[in-house]
Amino acid sequence: MCGILGTVIHDGVNELRETLITGLKAVEYRGYDSAGVAILGPNGLFINKRAGKIAVLEDHLGGDVLSGTVGLGHTRWATHGVPSDNNSHPHQDFRERITIVHNGIIENYAELKQELMTMGVEFTTETDTEVAANLIGFYYNGDLPAAVCRAARRIDGSFSMCVMAKDQPRMLIGIRNKLPLLVGHGPGVTYLGSDVTAFLAYTREVTYLADGEIVVIDGPACRFMDWRTGEPVVKQQERVEWDIEQAQKGGFETFMMKEIHEQPAVIRQILERYLPSEDAPVYLPGLDDFAAERETRLISLVGCGTAFHACKVGKYMLEGLAGVPCRVQLAHEALYHQAPIGKHAVTVAVSQSGETADTLGAVRTQSAIGSPVIAIANVVGSSLTREADLTLYTMAGPEISVASTKAFTCQLTVLTLIALWVAEKFQRKPPEELKRLKTELLGIPAKMELILESKYTLEKLARVYRHVDHFYYLGRGISYPVAMEGALKLKEISYVHAEGYAGGEMKHGAIALIEPGFPTCLLAPRSNLVDKMVGNMEEILSRKGEVMVVTNVPQRFADYDVHVFPFPDCPQVLSPLLMSLPLQLFAYYSAKLRDRDIDQPRNLAKSVVVE
Ligand code: M6R
Repeated sequence: MCGILGTVIHDGVNELRETLITGLKAVEYRGYDSAGVAILGPNGLFINKRAGKIAVLEDHLGGDVLSGTVGLGHTRWATHGVPSDNNSHPHQDFRERITIVHNGIIENYAELKQELMTMGVEFTTETDTEVAANLIGFYYNGDLPAAVCRAARRIDGSFSMCVMAKDQPRMLIGIRNKLPLLVGHGPGVTYLGSDVTAFLAYTREVTYLADGEIVVIDGPACRFMDWRTGEPVVKQQERVEWDIEQAQKGGFETFMMKEIHEQPAVIRQILERYLPSEDAPVYLPGLDDFAAERETRLISLVGCGTAFHACKVGKYMLEGLAGVPCRVQLAHEALYHQAPIGKHAVTVAVSQSGETADTLGAVRTQSAIGSPVIAIANVVGSSLTREADLTLYTMAGPEISVASTKAFTCQLTVLTLIALWVAEKFQRKPPEELKRLKTELLGIPAKMELILESKYTLEKLARVYRHVDHFYYLGRGISYPVAMEGALKLKEISYVHAEGYAGGEMKHGAIALIEPGFPTCLLAPRSNLVDKMVGNMEEILSRKGEVMVVTNVPQRFADYDVHVFPFPDCPQVLSPLLMSLPLQLFAYYSAKLRDRDIDQPRNLAKSVVVE
């Protein structure tokens, strides 16, 4: 959950403060409880680390030029030990010879700590990372790669680490076990980062480390090994397609607002690639071969948070359009519940980051019983894409805001395309109906643009509800998971308690909370369920609750004392793609009015890489 960064200057000495701070800011979304840097230079080792955001660290660094040959940076999401200056990374061994930054959890840290203490090692922090630093320090006798490999073999858990030694002024080691780490090859500088955005300002040439690999960067030289066996590994350098502009705010006040506005463009891009026209068949690279090799009787969708909601919407699409039975599970539940499925059940794992530990765990559980895996992922080269049998990329570009927006609608688009692909290939729907749906799908980006043009209506609605502490979101059928996603958005960025319910469930308990002023957002796309939603509305209004309706049949609600946000007409199966935008904007303005930190809400991190 932490962001890590390392740099090695090939020759001479460079100013490193700017490189480290710029890189850390780019990965701050991975955790923002504390931040720190270490720079090894001609004047020795300089370390500064502070609780709070990177801005706090920057204040402490002042305007001093910090030159060196090797640099480390870290932004933390606390696991072991409170966010404090002392617990912040980088950490050192007690002799101050080894300095490390770490992402992950060392599960056997308590026993390792005990063992090291009996040998006279002293500890000064509450972190598991200090144990790793001391273990490496204990084994270090001038051969840093050997000491790091030896220590790694004793550590249980997930980690990626960058390690430097005070007496090795050109060397930096990167090591990976289950958590991402990649090398950036820049002119005159080699970088290590927990994701590409850490050094995207400087280079797009990368090498991804796989699990069990270590990289030894020694000035301009870079060699890879298996840290369990010590065998050399030959790696391919790759060029990433993302560019630095995509990872910047581009004139918007927050990343979240930028990413909300990017949705029409990124969905157009997906459609250009996978569905160039309504007369073309859906083309999903690799899916033909994947399907030809196996008989699919069930699709098992797994994900967490927003990705889980995408899975739930996907079930309605895949069952409704393609007639394939689906089950949906939260990945952390699937991980510990062995369902009786086998090779005829295809697992579809949905994840923006491709690094969510629970989702990776669920994929491993399901592939262990023979289920083939399709990943729907955004981050190219992420762990999920390496473990899956097939990856369909969502191509949303970097999503920096912790609250997921464009990744969600891109996931929905890919799921819609899979459903259309199955329906087309196995003739589950008449060709004219499929063509009509494709035409409608191709029209979605333009309709999203219309919704974005009315965003100030949602700001006004957010003002109406600016003092409420609770919110219900109700939907039925395919709108039910959209209601859950709307509630999650409001909750995570505005800290207003919100719940997404199936409309039919109200009478079974939730309606007990309705009293004068209690607000409910109803999702009512044109469908056979609109009358049922009107029924929900009347029950709420008769108890003097407040109602806001997101609908493309606004005339149906015209005679009631409710707030209506109308969205453009579309078939019900595509309505989640449109309804998501007003819900994102409503959550956004609600958070803004409450003066919340929208891109970096409290207690959260973008990628949840620990269980
Ligand atoms: O990277 P993933 O899509 O696997 O992440 C899953 C969830 O952690 C993520 O969607 C989370 O719920 C978001 N903060 C929601 O906005």
